Amino acid sequence: MIIPNLEKARKRSKDPVLIKEHDYNVNSEEKRLGIGKKYFIKTYGCQMNEHDGENIKAILEDLSFEQTNQYTDADLILLNTCSIRENAHNKAFGMLGRIKHLKQQNPGLIVGLCGCMAQEEIVVKEILEKYKWLDLVFGTHNIHRLPQILAESMRSKHQEIEVMSVEGDIIENIPVKRDSKYKAWINIMYGCDKFCTYCIVPYTRGKQRSRHPKYILEEVQDLIKDGYQEVTLLGQNVNAYGKDLSISYGMENLLEDVAKTGVKRIRFVTSHPWDFTDRMIEVIKEYKNIMPYIHLPLQSGSDRILKLMGRRYTKEEYLTLFYKIKKALPYSAITTDIIVGFPGETEEDFLETLDVVKKCKFDSAFTFIFSKRVGTPAYKMKDIISVEEKNQRLQKLNHLVNQYSRLANEQYLGKTVPVLIEGYSEKNPTCLMGYTDTMKLVNVVGNAKYIGQIVNVKIEDVKTWSMDGKIIE
Ligand code: SAH
Ligand code: SF4
Ligand code: F3S
Repeated sequence: MIIPNLEKARKRSKDPVLIKEHDYNVNSEEKRLGIGKKYFIKTYGCQMNEHDGENIKAILEDLSFEQTNQYTDADLILLNTCSIRENAHNKAFGMLGRIKHLKQQNPGLIVGLCGCMAQEEIVVKEILEKYKWLDLVFGTHNIHRLPQILAESMRSKHQEIEVMSVEGDIIENIPVKRDSKYKAWINIMYGCDKFCTYCIVPYTRGKQRSRHPKYILEEVQDLIKDGYQEVTLLGQNVNAYGKDLSISYGMENLLEDVAKTGVKRIRFVTSHPWDFTDRMIEVIKEYKNIMPYIHLPLQSGSDRILKLMGRRYTKEEYLTLFYKIKKALPYSAITTDIIVGFPGETEEDFLETLDVVKKCKFDSAFTFIFSKRVGTPAYKMKDIISVEEKNQRLQKLNHLVNQYSRLANEQYLGKTVPVLIEGYSEKNPTCLMGYTDTMKLVNVVGNAKYIGQIVNVKIEDVKTWSMDGKIIE
């Protein structure tokens, strides 16, 4: 049993990051573990976790398990969890409650928990006390060890817990089963060293580790061969890409090299305003296959709160960067993340946030109420704002944000824009759906033969969250 340790998770050293090309191994016995068995995986959280989920699926299929979308039908259930806010925790524990009943009826059912919650010392302590029936727990650093952890759990019938609190290495040979045939996630870096005071990610994902460009570019080439249209370069803070590499090679170089592969669409998330360089803006402008879409988390508009959050920029600096991007790329969409109710946030602080929203008129924004995370510095900050007040602020903010989302969409009315058609719309199965290169959701009338292609769509109606259009043939 290896359980997580908060102190170790916090540590950052100068130890080199090891690139491991052979650490994912499956022996012939493990290859047969899942014969005749089905797995169900539920992933919570961010795109990075989604992508980890794609790795886990491929591993399980390597072990001969078959996927089912019905958890009641499964022989193995895995919850790939997120720790970012308390409600993410609650959702996972709620699901565990439901699964417990199944396990009582079917003791042979194997249940596992992985992802960011597994990396939390306090969560694993709770599992040890109250979830003794859980079969396996593994963390974000040892996904490649799943065959061995699962084999051991199935053999011993004991709870297997293997969560390392390490700064982390890079494992280059983990297989992947992608959810889409047209769009692909590519990790360009792991971990985060920014340690924003509210955020748990640096503790659950380890230190910032950039993948060597060679592996990233190979992955892009393979995706092009497989007919992929769009790649999303993933990292908690992609603009800092390369800073930890021994070669002089940054995000602007990577973006340019990925653009030169000729892949049809490239997007990247998430950009921390601190590391956004002028050269990056130039590169985005120069290459037509880099999508004019930038997610630029603001978090707060108040200098005082930004400082308490450890964000390393002021309101003015954020606005200057925003205007610089808009000036260079007037057609671009800029979206953001905002937290309300950070400890000590006053009405004036909140008004500063609203002021930035009014000035930037974001294409859209993900808005959150501050959630205390154990082990982060903000956990200990005095939080005197009432729940009602926080809710009111969130509502006010959302009202404003939605107004601007609609306004941004209105600019598209009557225009013809490229859309990557992904498939049928969930809400209306007679309709197709896809995204513009500015990441606007479009419901499209047109021939299904266009699924998987980038086509021109005339926008005929707009709403707050989506638009309607038809394919121009
Ligand atoms: N790396 C990204 C953010 C990843 S987390 C960045 O820095 O831009 C996604 C968003 O969740 C954050 O931008 C923040 O707005 C929100 N978030 C993170 N921790 C939170 C917390 N403790 N409470 C509320 N929201 C939080
Ligand atoms: Fe969290 Fe800040 Fe890192 Fe983003 S940059 S993951 S908010 S610590
Ligand atoms: Fe959640 Fe971990 Fe992502 S905390 S947001 S799944 S990095």
